Amino acid sequence: MAREAPIFAALIVMAIVVMASAASPVTFVFGDSLTEVGNNNFLQYSLAKSNFPWYGVDYKSGQPTGRFTNGRTIGDIISSKLGIPTPPPYLSLSANDDTILKGVNYASGGAGILNDTGLYFIQRMSFDDQIDCFEKSKITMKAKIGEDAAEKLSNAAIYFIGLGSNDYVNNYLQPFLPDGQQYTHDEFLELLISTLEQQLRRLYRLGARKMVFHGLSPLGCIPSQRVKSKKGECLKQVNKWVLQFNSRVQKLLLFLNSRLPAAGLSFADTYLSVLDLITNPKTYGFKISNTSCCNVDTSVGGLCLPNSKMCSNRKDYVFWDAFHPTDAANAVLAEKLFSSLFSSAHSPAPSPH
Ligand SMILES: *[C@@H]1O[C@H](CO)[C@@H](O)[C@H](O)[C@H]1NC(C)=O
Ligand SMILES: *[C@@H]1O[C@H](CO)[C@@H](O)[C@H](O)[C@H]1NC(C)=O
Repeated sequence: MAREAPIFAALIVMAIVVMASAASPVTFVFGDSLTEVGNNNFLQYSLAKSNFPWYGVDYKSGQPTGRFTNGRTIGDIISSKLGIPTPPPYLSLSANDDTILKGVNYASGGAGILNDTGLYFIQRMSFDDQIDCFEKSKITMKAKIGEDAAEKLSNAAIYFIGLGSNDYVNNYLQPFLPDGQQYTHDEFLELLISTLEQQLRRLYRLGARKMVFHGLSPLGCIPSQRVKSKKGECLKQVNKWVLQFNSRVQKLLLFLNSRLPAAGLSFADTYLSVLDLITNPKTYGFKISNTSCCNVDTSVGGLCLPNSKMCSNRKDYVFWDAFHPTDAANAVLAEKLFSSLFSSAHSPAPSPH
């Protein structure tokens, strides 16, 4: 149980982060397909796209948007709970767009911490690319509101960062890519953490102070991994690696907090909530968690293609395709994450705000 103490401490830090930032926090989102809201639609040759049926079938318009789920992402739900609009995809903004001052989403499906992760998607914005885009946004902000105000805005904003899943699923765990052959897991983890350290330091130099890093979920239990086991079970080795990654990231964040003045990096641990949802789906009103609602062909990637068959009740399923949760599962996970953001700051009596 020694593992629980630092997690709890990190969540408290996060509660303070969110509470400190007044009514309408500005948020900048960095991530992969779990948080993308449509950047890859603007990358002509990207194969990591979801702007086709049946993605978005349960979104507001019922139309695909570039989100990799049938409805809302966890970020959409958190934004609406914070009372702010979901930040728009960076690549949808025109050069002089004022919305840049209210938050931007840089996430790109297929992206990883490492540049070469997801390389078979041809085009995607890696974490380094996403930080490059933020750097450009910062220049635009300065031009709009002046150097000091742009610095204040970046210092006060919340940075949601969710990367690493693809470094496993679309890199290390792919037998035909070199990283899994070339490195032991310890060496690969070292590479991920040292790369991430440089990236977080760069964001800090660009003005980021309150950064929330979303830990990885039990990737060994997503449908694309389960099919690799004889009986459709979770891959224990993969989950073990994920836990090692999460633990190293937490140590890194604590280290950076101790080194970088006024830094407030925190770790959002969703591993156990996702595992509980997968292990006990009925507790949450779901029926099936070991395969996806969309009858995907995992031999050709595992996305929900227009000719795939959907399940009859999408709310019964935790997974939408071989990688991504359904809207209903995202609602449960966002609720848990959101209450962990606020609970400690709001105890004991419920308050109206
Ligand atoms: C990854 O790409 C970025 C930007 O394209 C570059 O600055 C960085 O040096 C690259 N990192 C590695 C390890 O190749
Ligand atoms: C999912 O679990 C059910 C019930 O335990 C089982 O019957 C089914 O074969 C499993 N499906 C897959 C794809 O593993």
